[in-house]
Amino acid sequence: MEIQSLLNQYSERVDSYLKACIVQKSIDPILQESMLYSLFNGGKRVRPTLVHMVNTMLDGDMRHADSAAAAIECIHSYSLVHDDLPAMDDDDLRRGKPTCHIAYDEATAILAGDALQSLAFELIAVDKYLSADAKVQLVKELSIASGYQGMAVGQSFDLRNVGKPLTLVQLEAMHQHKTGALLQCSVIMGAIASGKANQDQLSALTNYAQAIGLAFQVQDDILDIEGDSAVIGKPQGSDMAQNKPTYPALLGLEGAKLKLQQLHEDAKQALAPFGSEASELKALADFIVHRDH
Ligand code: IPE
Ligand code: IPE
Ligand code: MG
Ligand code: MG
Ligand code: MG
Repeated sequence: MEIQSLLNQYSERVDSYLKACIVQKSIDPILQESMLYSLFNGGKRVRPTLVHMVNTMLDGDMRHADSAAAAIECIHSYSLVHDDLPAMDDDDLRRGKPTCHIAYDEATAILAGDALQSLAFELIAVDKYLSADAKVQLVKELSIASGYQGMAVGQSFDLRNVGKPLTLVQLEAMHQHKTGALLQCSVIMGAIASGKANQDQLSALTNYAQAIGLAFQVQDDILDIEGDSAVIGKPQGSDMAQNKPTYPALLGLEGAKLKLQQLHEDAKQALAPFGSEASELKALADFIVHRDH
């Protein structure tokens, strides 16, 4: 199946799951509206797709991966709402629409992000298909990946290093945390949800996840230079205008593309032990490095 059809198929599943969870609840209308606005505005759903693809490859029941898939998208969407705030990247366009703080206001955007973050953990806690043990493992992975050992520290490093020359090692660590952590977590959560991953499979999947996690942000940095705002759905040139530490800033555009190619090879190599069972994960790696938005 084409990667776009696969993404559509998994997105539809995660979207209806998320909608059902949020709409059912009786919450403040503006908070509810701003949460829905931030979730349902055309994201590619790469992270929940990864959760489902890994779970499916390991022969897991799809219902066991629904809450983890929805949870990682809540965390990701919250990270974008906060990333766009004036105190962070100060961007006014996200997924082709005004960012949350432009459509509403800053306080609402902060609260929508906060609420999406806690919703992620609630969705896992109340899941009716998973064992208590699986839920604890999922909460552990998601909290580590999103907090001070993962995305949040990566974002902090990003903001503190504007205009500063980073070494390649520092830049890689920053990207691995701010973006790689949630992508890696998606893969691991798919394995946990399946309840069927052995140690060798987990270590192969971790290698795959590290490669695509970093590749994702390298391509994001490249798209900031080569992309078109109308296609990427966010302001092209934002990193350069703010003097952000990025791969092209350090290695040049060609150096960044070479790094992306190497990571693509690493990702495919990591999937070798799974043979043709990993065709969806391979297609997703191809998509991540070739995507135009
Ligand atoms: C954008 O992520 C932010 C990064 C971590 C680079 P995506 O490119 O996955 O954004 P959406 O969800 O598709 O909008
Ligand atoms: C954002 O990185 C990563 C997170 C939101 C955690 P960027 O700042 O490069 O993402 P975009 O380009 O605004 O989507
Ligand atoms: Mg940022
Ligand atoms: Mg940004
Ligand atoms: Mg970016």
